[in-house]
Amino acid sequence: MSVLPILTLGDPRLRLRGQPVESFNKFLHGLIDDLTDTMRHAPGVGLAAPQLGEALNVAVVEVEDRLFELVNPRIVRADGEDRDLEGCLSIPGYVAYVTRKEKVWVVAQNRVGKKFKVAGSGFLGRAFQHELDHLQGKLYVDYLASPDELIPVGRGGMDEEQDQAADAELERRGIDPERAKAASRG
Ligand code: NI
Repeated sequence: MSVLPILTLGDPRLRLRGQPVESFNKFLHGLIDDLTDTMRHAPGVGLAAPQLGEALNVAVVEVEDRLFELVNPRIVRADGEDRDLEGCLSIPGYVAYVTRKEKVWVVAQNRVGKKFKVAGSGFLGRAFQHELDHLQGKLYVDYLASPDELIPVGRGGMDEEQDQAADAELERRGIDPERAKAASRG
């Protein structure tokens, strides 16, 4: 189990589609453990295999201490609409408003290949949709009409002056900095 570097925007491997997993072996288990460790270390609420440079249909999501290991996941039903701030561990320092389905039902396999179905709404539903997009080579910025919609949130203490400037900009836009920092990141 290791914390690995997360690929960032511009790396072409983020655009690869995850290939279906057919072997539920030690390699898969190691990949799932690395995804979980790296997600928790970031910290974030989800991470998909392409973000670690593995073009496989595998992602993890963790919301409110519930960890979901998703192998070959797909959305089988979706309902409603929800617009909220969203960020990505592969696009550090920014969030944006993204419209998602309010609730989704996901069918996936676990690490030993057993099928299961899980529903997620709001924050959890957003995390599922964000990670499943990564498995299609898709990033949330693809939904934005313009890069101007990206909202800088600072990088959390690495540069205090930059963080203060980001907070001032958020307030200017009428967004609570704490809310922006609590936005979903996966
Ligand atoms: Ni992401």
